[in-house]
Amino acid sequence: MRRTPRSLASPRIVNIHDLRHLAKRRLPRVVFDYLDGGAESEVTLRENCRIFDDVTFRPRQAVAIPECDLRTRVLSADLTFPAILAPIGYSRLMHPGGEVAAAAAAEEAGLAYTLSTISGHKLENVRIASKGPVWYQLYLVGGREVAEGAIDRARRAGFSALVVTIDTPVAGMRERDPRNGMKELLGGSIFSKLPFLPQMFTHPRWLLSFLIDGGVPKLENIVIPGKGPMSLIDVTAALAQAVVTWEDIRWLKRIWTGPIVVSNHGGRQLDGAPATLKVLPEVVAAVNGQADVLMDGGVRRGSDIVKAICLGARAVLLGRAYAFGLAAAGQPGVTRALEILRADVERTLRLLGCPSVSALNSSYLNIPNHW
Ligand code: FNR
Repeated sequence: MRRTPRSLASPRIVNIHDLRHLAKRRLPRVVFDYLDGGAESEVTLRENCRIFDDVTFRPRQAVAIPECDLRTRVLSADLTFPAILAPIGYSRLMHPGGEVAAAAAAEEAGLAYTLSTISGHKLENVRIASKGPVWYQLYLVGGREVAEGAIDRARRAGFSALVVTIDTPVAGMRERDPRNGMKELLGGSIFSKLPFLPQMFTHPRWLLSFLIDGGVPKLENIVIPGKGPMSLIDVTAALAQAVVTWEDIRWLKRIWTGPIVVSNHGGRQLDGAPATLKVLPEVVAAVNGQADVLMDGGVRRGSDIVKAICLGARAVLLGRAYAFGLAAAGQPGVTRALEILRADVERTLRLLGCPSVSALNSSYLNIPNHW
């Protein structure tokens, strides 16, 4: 039996915000801000979260619900509630368990996990950690030949869907990162690291686990022919040369026969892009039932998940919500985050007087007139 870390066992840890607080305590500022921050003024990041408050519920009272059914099915994956773990790059910097720990917690919770291209663990090891559904998120870093190598490995390992991220023609300007020395942490000389070392020494638990884990990991799934796995430091420059066009999507459809999902980021790319919940109804109307619509951005509570489903999403992707748990305490931290969200979804459905996720629709919401 894995022991629950003492920090997680506190009765004060009741929501995702509390896990964020634990993550902030455990991580040096450079890593916490990488996880927590967004692009430029962080308008989109804040708005992604705030927008959920604009939508309120229309509950049905005095309804008995003996069994509340939270299950849903997305791209042939059966989920215990309508959530999928989103790709989070550099997860292994947050905790040595990184992507392997997150995938194992996803399986334990009966959910699917999406592995980022920017992963410190080999995709084969992530697959071994979870018998549940695992998807592979693709950046075209290193070009088509490198991507084909990763796709082939993912297929052989048993990844069931490809998630193609298309909003990174350049990396967004996450202003906290250069200020905190993210580039210097990942590479550079010991002299360039010096100004940033105090934040490491004031977080000895993180520092010790980082050093025992071997320091900055290589990107095990971006294998450059003749050179081996790419170093973490090269990513920003490499992303700038990895623009995805609709022509690339046509090529991917030829080489990957499984489902393909197109995704964009949680307020980390184009600041000023609208909040995702706000544009969800427009996207659902345009797709018109031809494909399942998944949404992410700003989901921090089960009631947020319920609102997104009412507005037409088949499921949501969780980003920071589970990564705060990972950063706070590794696999048990992710498990705790997922337990909190699952319990929230069930409680919200019961309070709404709705027996199942599949019965949710916009009649359970008050949607602002100007939407
Ligand atoms: C991300 N996201 C992301 N997306 C992707 O396709 N590949 C990646 O490597 C990453 N890396 C990444 C790192 C960190 C620290 C964050 C916070 C996000 C975007 C992610 O998959 C998802 O779209 C957002 O996290 C959703 O927003 P919330 O839930 O974090 O608000």
